[in-house]
Amino acid sequence: MLELHSILAPLDLTKLFSKPQPLEVELGCGDASFLVEYARQHTDINFIGVERLLGRLQKLDKKGRRLGLENIRGVRIESAYFLQYLLPPQTATSVHIYFPDPWPKKKHRRHRLINEAFPALVRRVLVPAGMVFLRTDDADYFQQITEVFRGADYFMKTATPVALAAITTDFEQDFNAQGIPTLRAAYKLL
Ligand SMILES: C[S@@+](CC[C@H](N)C(=O)[O-])C[C@H]1O[C@@H](n2cnc3c(N)ncnc32)[C@H](O)[C@@H]1O
Repeated sequence: MLELHSILAPLDLTKLFSKPQPLEVELGCGDASFLVEYARQHTDINFIGVERLLGRLQKLDKKGRRLGLENIRGVRIESAYFLQYLLPPQTATSVHIYFPDPWPKKKHRRHRLINEAFPALVRRVLVPAGMVFLRTDDADYFQQITEVFRGADYFMKTATPVALAAITTDFEQDFNAQGIPTLRAAYKLL
């Protein structure tokens, strides 16, 4: 797990990983079932998992160590703050957001991570032609996601690669086991 010495200074990515490689980020990675498996399959990519709950990040750490992965780090911080202040601009080739908290009550929707401000936040950290991959079980949130990205003309809707969709997250496995399907969206920075 990454210990932040300052939450005011941007991360020095050269000190974070043993190898300089392309970087992908997962926001709200939970206990990192997806990220650990994805990092295991792609040792030529560096990964940062962002999560606000310590217990879940400790699981990321434990799983990563058990597999001897050098290419995965966890950061305990709020996702929007991470995008705005900590990740240096144009450093991520992909950002993954899977099953973000849906905040189903109407009066709580302002807490949703994917809101009107999100496309600009994520654009800041993406390299040219960088990708955003999203999944949710919540039809209303999915509609919000679709509308928010439709309003950002610097993103183009695209498809989620089959091999990526095949790596499921912890929450996804639970939802799918209950017969609740995964709604997926993918966007490419123009
Ligand atoms: C519904 S869970 C999904 C976890 C994982 N992505 C999965 O699909 O199994 C949402 C996760 O995002 C984390 N989270 C929610 N809002 C966050 C935020 N603003 N910043 C960082 N983590 C957040 C929660 O603590 C939780 O672990």
